[in-house]
Amino acid sequence: MAIKYSGDKMTVIPLLKDKSIVVGVTGGIAAYKAAALTSRLVQAGARVDVIMTEAAARFVAPLTFQALTHRPVVTEMFALLAETDIGHVSLGKRADLMVIAPATANTLAKLAHGFADNMLTTTSLACRGPILLAPAMETGMWQNSATRANMALLRDRGFYFIGPEKGRLASSDTGTGRMAEPNDIFEACRWSLARKGPLAGKHVLVTAGCTWEPFDPVRFIGNRSSGKMGFALAAAGRDQGAEVTRIHGPTARTAGDGVRCQAIQTARQMHDAVLDIISTTDVLLMAAAVGDYRPASFAGQKIKKGQDSRSVELAPNPDILKAVAKQNKPGSQLQVVVGFAAETEDLLENARKKLDQKKLDLIVANDVSAPDSGFKVDTNRVNILDPQSEPVTLPLLSKDEVAANIIQRVIVKLEEKAGDQPGKD
Ligand code: CTP
Repeated sequence: MAIKYSGDKMTVIPLLKDKSIVVGVTGGIAAYKAAALTSRLVQAGARVDVIMTEAAARFVAPLTFQALTHRPVVTEMFALLAETDIGHVSLGKRADLMVIAPATANTLAKLAHGFADNMLTTTSLACRGPILLAPAMETGMWQNSATRANMALLRDRGFYFIGPEKGRLASSDTGTGRMAEPNDIFEACRWSLARKGPLAGKHVLVTAGCTWEPFDPVRFIGNRSSGKMGFALAAAGRDQGAEVTRIHGPTARTAGDGVRCQAIQTARQMHDAVLDIISTTDVLLMAAAVGDYRPASFAGQKIKKGQDSRSVELAPNPDILKAVAKQNKPGSQLQVVVGFAAETEDLLENARKKLDQKKLDLIVANDVSAPDSGFKVDTNRVNILDPQSEPVTLPLLSKDEVAANIIQRVIVKLEEKAGDQPGKD
């Protein structure tokens, strides 16, 4: 999301809306998956032009892409027509992003050496925006030193990549070379578009979800947090150009691309993982619902019915935010720390206490007993508190919108802090 900020009123503009995106499709079996990617980009509000190589058009009919984009598809046949507003040079010039999926070994080689022998390679050469490549090929071709050298050249020249992944290939073999899934390529498109955003060069660390505190090999104490808010925050940070790390507890959610992630299970593991990288972090968003207590002992075998007493003795877990505050000396890289307060009563009062006690720059407070905000649901109604000013109450919003608003507050905080540094006006 891109956000325009004017005082407390924040308008969220979806990152892909009205962006001009060229989808290049080359000749591989994964060409059919480019249709799903195209559809997602169109649904996200982008203006999508598809260019297909001759080989790609043998795998999937251009009409498929034309129906999805409502725009003519550029093929070699099209090149015979007069140059129009979607001619190769104008398409390349105005593209905010070009994504080539699948990108065959042949096309990677041509791009690496500046060939302009078809509409797709010609447009790539003329393209002024970022180019994202989703390679797909047989494992042997992927591992070939010629492909490795071409990849290195393209990386050096600033091309972005997603995949390939390990999996079942067209030849029925299993190995590396399978094109990344359309959803992941879609996320990578957002990541590529955001590279020059206001958080470029910043490392944002987000914790997400719940923790599990086991007391025997099959049972644990946990909580209801699904991780939705933390995942939305990580994506919103990425969409503003940050390098994002997400440390998350057990969750059914899968990772979106462009976010480095580390899975943990217990509060102590999350504590150690956070403290491990805090010295290279600029912004910490502590959205995880961390278990305050853990069972004092762990039974090596499953506890049988009637075998033990029915009470579990608890030991306190470390408070991660307090540990971070203790370690955070003036002059360190960490600039903004955001906490989250999930409350069921005295919302603002309890949140204000946590803001002070945990030495936070912002705290996001929500009433988790309300049916439309808090755990599991896709919406949230939050208050953002800052030590200096009155709380800002946001209306009921989707978690993506809440996340974009929080990130915007973080950007403002970072600017304020940069302004406070000695030597600045
Ligand atoms: N938090 C933390 N370490 C813990 C517990 C919580 O860093 N052991 C963080 C949470 O990630 C959140 C903030 O502290 O950002 C507030 O968490 P919350 O559970 O609301 O508050 P607690 O401090 O645990 O207090 P209480 O459970 O009594 O409300």
